[in-house]
Amino acid sequence: MMWDQAEKLRKMVQSSSEKKSSSVIKANRTNARVITVTSGKGGVGKTNFTVNLALALAKLGQRVLIIDADLGMGNVDVILGCSTPYNILHLLEGGFSLIDIITEGPLGIKFMSGGSGIYNLANLDDSQLTRIINKITLLDDLADIILIDTGAGISKSVMNFVVAADEVIIVTTPEPTAITDAYAMVKTYVSHSGTAVLKLVINRVMEPDEGNIAADKLIKVALKFLGLTISSLGFVYEDSNLVRAVKKQTPLLLAFPNTASARCIEQIANRLLDRASSKTTGVKGFFNKLLGLMR
Ligand SMILES: Nc1ncnc2c1ncn2[C@@H]1O[C@H](COP(=O)(O)OP(=O)(O)O)[C@@H](O)[C@H]1O
Ligand SMILES: [Mg+2]
Repeated sequence: MMWDQAEKLRKMVQSSSEKKSSSVIKANRTNARVITVTSGKGGVGKTNFTVNLALALAKLGQRVLIIDADLGMGNVDVILGCSTPYNILHLLEGGFSLIDIITEGPLGIKFMSGGSGIYNLANLDDSQLTRIINKITLLDDLADIILIDTGAGISKSVMNFVVAADEVIIVTTPEPTAITDAYAMVKTYVSHSGTAVLKLVINRVMEPDEGNIAADKLIKVALKFLGLTISSLGFVYEDSNLVRAVKKQTPLLLAFPNTASARCIEQIANRLLDRASSKTTGVKGFFNKLLGLMR
């Protein structure tokens, strides 16, 4: 590792721990919470939700990292307003440390691009994998919460990320088509023997009842037919400010923080912290499981 990289890493870890000790909410675990955000249907608002949730969590004193794992369609960088030319596979190249492939966005949110590399991990040999795992495990020291933004659907590549995570947030809109696709996703998840804690967010609701009814429907059907418990994290209003925020390339929580939809996301962030899962295997657990599934 070159000196400036070592210095950068030292500073990042130091500022992370300073932030952690001054934060209102103290995380008494050392492992990061790895949370995959997914959906059945595409375009339901996963990426915008992930970025704004990250900001809401950062406002609550959490150190958050977002990993973009949406192959080909990844656009966390566009919505967050910061990008990086590097991805996970660069960790294989001499001279690249974890810190070199991470970039920092607003409110200190860290961002890492999975690139297409994240799906090619299965093609690496054991020594290459060990190198990646050894470097990436440092994330447990840099973040309290890692949000992984995935693509939509039930393809194996997306499902691996869902099954490997400790926690999964399923995003859907109240539209019957989106709910049906979310159910199909959950059903596939069960067939892959997933054991994560499943949480639900209903996005783009016109009124609270619409969100509550949609959540109830999916939660009841999953329990009745799959024996699966899903808990609701709440809903987010349909809001044209979100579209305006996307156009400005400034996340909603920064561009329009006083809107009802921004407050919905802040409430969800609070609930997520209130309901911290006890079984957190951290980054190492996540990547070991992911690689096991890929191979
Ligand atoms: N709460 C919302 N209110 C209004 N429009 C929304 C909302 N959430 C998402 N959208 C719209 O949906 C589009 C797709 O969102 P995006 O986060 O990219 O979805 P996904 O990641 O699921 O494909 C956004 O560009 C925006 O136009
Ligand atoms: Mg997306």
